[in-house]
Amino acid sequence: MNTLGKAPSSSEITPEPLYLRRREFLHTTFLFTATSVGTGGSLLWLMGGNRASEPESSPVSVSTPSLTTAGRSSYSTNEPSTSYRDITTYNNFYEFTLGKDVFKHVEAFTTEPWKIEITGLCENPMTVDARELLEEFGMEERIYRFRCVEAWAMVVPWSGYPFRKLIEKAKPKSEAKFIRMLTASKPEQMPGMRQAPHYPWPYFEGLRMDEAMNTLTFMATGIYGKALPKQHGAPLRLVVPWKYGYKSIKSIVKIEFIDRQPKTFWEALQPEEYPFESNVDPKVPHPRWSQATHRLIDTGSRERTLYLNGYADWVGDMYRRG
Ligand code: MTE
Repeated sequence: MNTLGKAPSSSEITPEPLYLRRREFLHTTFLFTATSVGTGGSLLWLMGGNRASEPESSPVSVSTPSLTTAGRSSYSTNEPSTSYRDITTYNNFYEFTLGKDVFKHVEAFTTEPWKIEITGLCENPMTVDARELLEEFGMEERIYRFRCVEAWAMVVPWSGYPFRKLIEKAKPKSEAKFIRMLTASKPEQMPGMRQAPHYPWPYFEGLRMDEAMNTLTFMATGIYGKALPKQHGAPLRLVVPWKYGYKSIKSIVKIEFIDRQPKTFWEALQPEEYPFESNVDPKVPHPRWSQATHRLIDTGSRERTLYLNGYADWVGDMYRRG
């Protein structure tokens, strides 16, 4: 059974108080500054009055202490962020469950230590610990609109580093045209893998090299200045804000430089519904529903979806619009 893209029912709308008033989504991005307050302290958003609210107390398990050492300037939407509670209790992570309540199923998942293998067509293949990478690359905060192919959206204050830093460290060869990434496969800790044995585990995704090197492509290690919760893909996951959410692969253990376009998990299952590129485009409907609008997960209100999720100024040059 494939649940990705099933039209969300009204019961899936998170019953949270509407405490963040939403403004019209501005599809230009701007520079903002995030400053850490003390060691591992909370982050202060300084621009546009967009002070992100502190994490609320939540039923969610935060796996490790904050890895934040410093805030950095970065690119961000000026839209208010979705609350910590809403972001962390409405997730897609099929390795754990086909439902949205992933946070209830992640307890047994161990994310430390966490090795990542970087391999394939590169001068500097390596196996490295996620924590070491974070120490080496430092951390930025970026508030991105996140748009799922299921036509829901949220605004997430991610922390982490640009994917290009990791790519540059690996020194890809000129023949490397694509990057393939793999999620951890731990069926004993991931009940969803056992419940859906017919899926082509482990989860795999890919990007073109120019997409991976784009300034916006981000390796997230946290949200709201805290370490990434397990349900979000701890300890590190990709964020590609102009593509549908399933491109943003979680809990990555392998990154491979290759010379031809790789298959992806959803493409392998349903190629006509989930093609490799998967750019957000309101004019291209999913075969089973429109992509013209989306539902905000906290308020339930509908917004118009923008081409490339509003990031056309940053990434539009990479694509020819049909
Ligand atoms: N990565 C893995 N390994 N497994 C998954 O099931 N789901 C994808 C993507 N990355 C998924 C994954 C989908 S369909 C979406 S919409 C986003 O993660 C959801 O990210 P979020 O739960 O952090 O909002």
